[in-house]
Amino acid sequence: MSKQFDVVVVGAGPGGYIAAIRAAQLGFSVACIDEWKNDKGGPAPGGTCTNVGCIPSKALLQSSEHFDHANHHFAEHGILAKGVTIDVAKMIARKDTVVKQNNDGILYLFKKNKITFLHGRGAFVKATDGGYELRVSGVSEESVTARQVILATGSTARALPGTPFDEQNVLSNDGALRIGAVPKKLGLIGSGVIGLEMGSVWRRLGAEVTILEGLPTFLGAVDEQVAKEAHKAFTKQGLKIELGVKVGEVKSGKKGVSVAYTNAKGEAQTLEVDKLIVSIGRVPNTTGLAAEAVGLKLDERGAIEVDGDCKTNLPGVWAVGDVVRGPMLAHKAEEEGVAVAERIAGQHGHVNFNTVPWVIYTSPEIAWVGQTEQQLKASGRAYKAGSFPFLANGRARALGDTTGFVKFLADAASDEILGVHIVGPQASELISEAVVAMEFRASAEDIARICHAHPSLSEATKEAALAVDKRTLNF
Ligand code: FAD
Ligand code: NAI
Repeated sequence: MSKQFDVVVVGAGPGGYIAAIRAAQLGFSVACIDEWKNDKGGPAPGGTCTNVGCIPSKALLQSSEHFDHANHHFAEHGILAKGVTIDVAKMIARKDTVVKQNNDGILYLFKKNKITFLHGRGAFVKATDGGYELRVSGVSEESVTARQVILATGSTARALPGTPFDEQNVLSNDGALRIGAVPKKLGLIGSGVIGLEMGSVWRRLGAEVTILEGLPTFLGAVDEQVAKEAHKAFTKQGLKIELGVKVGEVKSGKKGVSVAYTNAKGEAQTLEVDKLIVSIGRVPNTTGLAAEAVGLKLDERGAIEVDGDCKTNLPGVWAVGDVVRGPMLAHKAEEEGVAVAERIAGQHGHVNFNTVPWVIYTSPEIAWVGQTEQQLKASGRAYKAGSFPFLANGRARALGDTTGFVKFLADAASDEILGVHIVGPQASELISEAVVAMEFRASAEDIARICHAHPSLSEATKEAALAVDKRTLNF
């Protein structure tokens, strides 16, 4: 006998669990199915983000940054910390605790919102009269039916062709977050978001880090000026980034990993490392969902095909997050989850893809929203640019972190903000002001005329907005 719900959500990552909560808030009876297990076999809702993504990576970035500060920056404050060492096992255990707090938090939210959590794999069985039947297999074993199904099954790491992850030597994001001791030499394939964040963690802890990137341009999707500044900073810190390489055979053995590659000059090279992290993007995940049982359409990349409203080809079946088109970001997944729950309730859920912020949590942090200067040039749009360096910001000087700048791009005629790009301290927090401004279609002058607290890093944002009109006050 199948249990009947109004809405069944498959996947409890940021897309799924947030969709479930919003649907419950709107008065629906909701079940959320997720198969992730913690190391004791218990439920671990939160998906990639909570278990092997956003949260654990930020925990390790924080720990390694403390270590880096103790070793390299305390002295300038007159704090003498000699012989500072890192207990990697403790650092990893702390990260695991942070993850568990988040898993438990989501289980609490399910209870609070009266959502039935089913721990197991959800698979379509068949379309029923006006709905769908799904089978849950795992810790929970049952059948559920619902008129509305939200698929939020996420993504998995892409492996190099012919080189599967063994999570001992050749690591995906999962293994990269569980390395037990600082490797002497660490290699990474791909200088994207994971490559830079994970490379930074282990570089700060003492590993010699080499990143091999296939493209000839560093961070091609980022504003060129920002990418150039970040590249300079990372290189100075000791991250070795080789661009324009072609990765060949990867051999993994007892002594570590050797990577054959051709460099940008066409010369044959070999990189010998203790561990190799492969971070070359992620693939949408529909494993075990039995999409074929109901005729759910996937695109050529294996993503679930959806329209602008996250509707699939099947009536009453929606899909959100990493498993559909668009940026693979937790907050994008959440926004889609909320919008879909609201659409099911007959409301007008909305996601503005133009104002989805991006953040890379390196040091300096990189954050942006809207269009880059190269995109504006390519589209032929007339624009004005203004930037302000943290070097001229009092708070940044007091913090001892003056790398980078804030850059505004605004329409040449209307002054509407078209993009904001930040490289520097707390860029992840500063970018929110730009997102709000763009959501309200503010002009650069609007930001320039707003009172910002002194001393604060946000004054660099105001000054960059002033710079659009060539009237900075402190530079
Ligand atoms: P997921 O989080 O992948 O969740 C999908 C869930 O569905 C999983 O729990 C999975 O077990 C479950 N599932 C799949 N199929 C089934 C099934 N058939 N039955 C039951 N359960 C199923 N994004 C950011 O915005 N900020 C960051 O700082 C950030 N850092 C990241 C760091 C790393 C190392 C990685 C790998 C990713 C990071 N991301 C970050 C990306 C972010 O994790 C994803 O965009 C986000 O998790 C996508 O959410 P989702 O709900 O679509 O899918
Ligand atoms: P990515 O798409 O950010 O970067 C992959 C890089 O690998 C690219 O630069 C690409 O050119 C390169 N590449 C691809 N194939 C290659 C090959 N064969 N040889 C050499 N280089 C190759 O993907 P990444 O870093 O794996 O992260 C996946 C996704 O996870 C990100 O796109 C992002 O959506 C999400 N994420 C977000 C974070 C954040 O928001 N702070 C942090 C980490 C991940």
